[in-house]
Amino acid sequence: MSSERTPLIAGNWKMHKTVADAEDLIQALLPRVSTSDGVEVAICPPFTALNAMVDSTRGSRVQVFAQTMHFAAQGAFTGEISAAMLSELDVHGVVLGHSERRALFNETDKALAQKVAAALAAGLTPILCVGETDEERERGDTERKLRHQIKEDLSKVAEAELSKVVIAYEPIWAIGTGKVATPHQAQEAAGFIRALVGDRSKEQSNLVRVLYGGSVKPENAQELLALADVDGALVGGASLEAESFAAIVAAAG
Ligand code: 13P
Repeated sequence: MSSERTPLIAGNWKMHKTVADAEDLIQALLPRVSTSDGVEVAICPPFTALNAMVDSTRGSRVQVFAQTMHFAAQGAFTGEISAAMLSELDVHGVVLGHSERRALFNETDKALAQKVAAALAAGLTPILCVGETDEERERGDTERKLRHQIKEDLSKVAEAELSKVVIAYEPIWAIGTGKVATPHQAQEAAGFIRALVGDRSKEQSNLVRVLYGGSVKPENAQELLALADVDGALVGGASLEAESFAAIVAAAG
């Protein structure tokens, strides 16, 4: 972490938590994270709990993010949600390009380029997820994959706006597997991502936040968050409980 960038700890709840469950979790979480200065804290509940979580976190340090959105302003896209619908709820931002959405719901880099631009235009902070599969790492293709995703997904973002995007490096082999990247692997990839942004703007690359995601737990958070180019974490499983998520937030403070 660098002192010029405020760390962000975001909990991706995925398809967990009814509104009632979400209320229980946020009420347990708020007192546990209220004193963590110098850290931004975010939760990413399912669509159905967004409204309730925005209400419950008002006036607190916790920001609320959606987990995906469509790039179009409106239209015949049954089941989809637009950026305007999210900003109307007062959510802070949106996770885009999570590997589960890329793999299970055919989210493409072409669509993501439009989604990132649409989110920014609506005043939402995108958390753009990138990362390689096990096979890609084995073949030595990690950098090629990251270069491709960053180039395509940020292609419609103006140079001066690059640091408004938060980038989450999530190696797919580390998601939900308990197999966390080594500090060396996480730093190498986060540094590489920063350098890719630097190819477009040196200034923006010093400001852009790069998170690590993939089996982040209270036990490994400290060493990951201490890495020079890692500015926070995108947490899945460990964000579903107040105690473990708050411990990760504390590790960033
Ligand atoms: P886990 O922390 O459960 O590995 O999930 C990571 C993730 O996908 C966050 O977006």
